[in-house]
Amino acid sequence: MSAVGAAGAMGAERYRAAVITVSDRSAAGQREDTGGPLVRGLLEGAGFEVAYSSVIPDEADEIKSELIRLADEEDIALIVTTGGTGFAPRDVTPEATAAVCERLAPGIPEAMRAESLKVTNRAMLSRLAAGIRGRSLIVNLPGSPKAARENFEAVSAALAHGLDMLRGGPADCAAKVK
Ligand code: MTE
Repeated sequence: MSAVGAAGAMGAERYRAAVITVSDRSAAGQREDTGGPLVRGLLEGAGFEVAYSSVIPDEADEIKSELIRLADEEDIALIVTTGGTGFAPRDVTPEATAAVCERLAPGIPEAMRAESLKVTNRAMLSRLAAGIRGRSLIVNLPGSPKAARENFEAVSAALAHGLDMLRGGPADCAAKVK
């Protein structure tokens, strides 16, 4: 079974997800948002219900308030961002994410970078973060659809189990999985 198929089988369908595209140019209508729809498809393929998506500029305050609203008011279990994780001066998604999280989940970006380094040494330039705010898990992905797909597929099979622990659902750590 593929990693994505395994994620679906592990109970992702219990959880609502949201996708936030962080891009100045897409938010201004100067570039089509291809990353957001791609990530939506990946999440749905993994079994999540995608309840919301948005496109916002690389503004730390806007990223933070969107994350806070989706976690605190909308109770979205898994909030995935795409974009703003590189070295460009306006790439601030990881900082905005860390600022609103009470606890970081460093294993998620560690796994993404470890897998991505097998594809390109430029993976070391990805600063993406993941963390927990209340009952929500926030995960950053890079902006390019190719990179977003490769990073998501590196961790997707474990996400529902993390949400089970976070939300008090069935979380059997001893169950045999890859
Ligand atoms: N990870 C994978 N798996 N595949 C890629 O092509 N591109 C890298 C990196 N991680 C890449 C990747 C590059 S070139 C950059 S600059 C960073 O992700 C950050 O991407 P972002 O600025 O689009 O968020």
